[in-house]
Amino acid sequence: CGIVGYCGPRKAMPVLMQGLRQLEYRGYDSSGVALLQGESIKVIKKQGKLNNLEQALPSRSASTLGIAHTRWATHGRVSDENAHPHESADGRVAVVHNGIIDNYVALKEELITKGYSFLSETDSEVLAHLIEDYLKQNPEKPEDAVKSALRRIEGTYGIIVLFRDHPDLLVGARNGSPLIVGVGEKEMFLASDATAFIGLSRQAIYLEDGEMAILTPKQYKTINRQDREVEKTVEQVDIDETQALKGEYDHFLLKEIFEQPAAVSRAMGEGGRLLHDFGTAKLGGLNLDKRDFFDIERIHVLAMGTGYYAGCVGGAMIEHLARIPVQVFDASEYRVSNPIVKRDTLYLAISQSGETADTILAVKEVQNKGGRVLGIVNVVGSTLARLTEGGVYTHAGPEKSVASTKAFTSQVTVMALLALLLGRMRDVPVRRGKELVDAMMALPDRIHETLGLRDRIKEIAEKYKGYGSMLFMGRGNYYPIALEGALKLKEISYIHAEGFSSGGLKHGPLALISPDMPSLFIAMDGDFLDKDIGNIQEVRAREGKVIVLTDSDDPRLEDLASDIIKIPATDEVLAPILAVVPLQLFAYYVSLALGREIDQPRNLAKSVTVE
Ligand code: G6P
Repeated sequence: CGIVGYCGPRKAMPVLMQGLRQLEYRGYDSSGVALLQGESIKVIKKQGKLNNLEQALPSRSASTLGIAHTRWATHGRVSDENAHPHESADGRVAVVHNGIIDNYVALKEELITKGYSFLSETDSEVLAHLIEDYLKQNPEKPEDAVKSALRRIEGTYGIIVLFRDHPDLLVGARNGSPLIVGVGEKEMFLASDATAFIGLSRQAIYLEDGEMAILTPKQYKTINRQDREVEKTVEQVDIDETQALKGEYDHFLLKEIFEQPAAVSRAMGEGGRLLHDFGTAKLGGLNLDKRDFFDIERIHVLAMGTGYYAGCVGGAMIEHLARIPVQVFDASEYRVSNPIVKRDTLYLAISQSGETADTILAVKEVQNKGGRVLGIVNVVGSTLARLTEGGVYTHAGPEKSVASTKAFTSQVTVMALLALLLGRMRDVPVRRGKELVDAMMALPDRIHETLGLRDRIKEIAEKYKGYGSMLFMGRGNYYPIALEGALKLKEISYIHAEGFSSGGLKHGPLALISPDMPSLFIAMDGDFLDKDIGNIQEVRAREGKVIVLTDSDDPRLEDLASDIIKIPATDEVLAPILAVVPLQLFAYYVSLALGREIDQPRNLAKSVTVE
């Protein structure tokens, strides 16, 4: 979820709506605002996209203080009632919350016994009543009421509270969910991330867990759990104000797919991260002394979703070039596995948003055990970027579509740079290093050529849009690409799709094959093409339709394929980066043909900020 608050001389409503638009990536199933209007708090909230809320809002409001929320449902279905802000029964308090209150059932029971009645099914509503309950004891000290309420809470929160009887005041607090104060000229902002007040304030204070901010338009105060005032540094927010716009494209997803040549080029620092003469890469942000690299015995990668698959592809590149064992973990699993953290392990967290709760918590677990974590992160200044001890920004630019595309190829590109750097320090000779540098420099052009296949892929997509299920197969470093291809299709088309290793097909999934279950095989040139062809034959023998994705001219593929997608050849280490592009386009065109909500698919969020 995303939260935003404002107090100052401006009209609050447009400021809050701008904030919500920026925070929509954190959830978009419902939204709401609470405005302090004269003697009362006015709450308007609506299920569905922000447009629904916008239509329900008054055309203007003189209010200069308010809070707002965009929701990704956890506790309680998607409904107007369950949308935030939540109000206390006496109308004195309104609160927005991002996070999960673990002990809400017990608190709710206690409050019901005391006579409070609940209007929603959410965990968050307990906050409103709890704060009211403490406020009754000392109405002149609203921040104390918030403090007392928070002492009772187990779980994670970023909250903003407004009070009917304190028309200048906003109180915010964080524990596990980010909260940032925007410091303006006689105005203050609070938000889950600084983009919410883009163009309005460039000065920001990043709250730490356990801290609380007490704001009036002219001043801010930050206190910690021990109730001591803490001095915070005001940081300059450096966000590109040119908003990501769809431009000539119908969807952000298509735009972002087509931005990949440029994004991959930026991930390589437009060439500046490559040293051609030495056939290696230069990644200054790692903050590692050259000698530190010698001590790396293994690498653990922590990520979720598409970042996880980028880790798998990139990890294999590192193993191949540097012969360092890499294990890639689902961060949510890693955190609960009581991980064995070692000095000679390099920990890498991969995240587009830098706000994924599962990944952040895994990183904290490693750090608490003394491990050193580096980040491969897209969003500059995000929680993960700040938490890690160093790393590499992917610089893919803002990614708006929930389904990740250019972030993926940029993440793999950065992993390829790291593989090259580590490889050159170990096994890879300079000649091979130079070859790879050349291939990397040419990669944006190869991606561009691959994008030229869009019409062909659109045709194929329209042919396959009617199937209820589909399988994706790949071998070696195309196996995680197959998994990513299946993820893309299910995310945005809602067609059930699964990825398998080509070799694993015969060990079970083959039972699914029939004329109604098409598959897509990635069968690239190389040592294993014969094996891939054998697997395709196994499917064809059972009347399964097969789309073949290849860079090979082998005539057997043409004969066997129901449909074939032919991509340009590149260095075999980098070829997975090219192979994913047609799969992205395929998912896009299938979803387009099915009339899906491509950029904001149902039930998902761009960045999942709860565990
Ligand atoms: C969500 C998004 C995915 C993304 C994953 C990890 O599930 O819908 O597209 O891959 O989070 O996000 P991150 O920002 O950490 O890369």
